[in-house]
Amino acid sequence: MADYVKVLNVAELDDPGKIILEVDDRIVVLVHVNGLFYCIDDVCTHDDGPLSDGELDGCDLICPRHGARFDVCTGQAKSLPATRPTASHEVKVENGEVFVKVCED
Ligand code: FES
Repeated sequence: MADYVKVLNVAELDDPGKIILEVDDRIVVLVHVNGLFYCIDDVCTHDDGPLSDGELDGCDLICPRHGARFDVCTGQAKSLPATRPTASHEVKVENGEVFVKVCED
């Protein structure tokens, strides 16, 4: 079972900002927005576009390939051409350090 893995210190990622990371052999995007951190897969569910290369617009991450929007808080697809959510991972902050626990699906 996956456990929390320290990925960086809070001060290492601008707000707003995003960074691609590998956590437990999974490629994910960590997003810092409005003082909070979120983590989703670096995979657009339309055609596997790299969300880490996309533009951050508030809490939306926009796929650089065909423009689908994903809610970084939940992984939900908010606009076509994507219709399915991308995986969302648990994040916690303790003592100025950010930890991610990847989901098991
Ligand atoms: S691959 Fe992301 S919108 Fe097409």
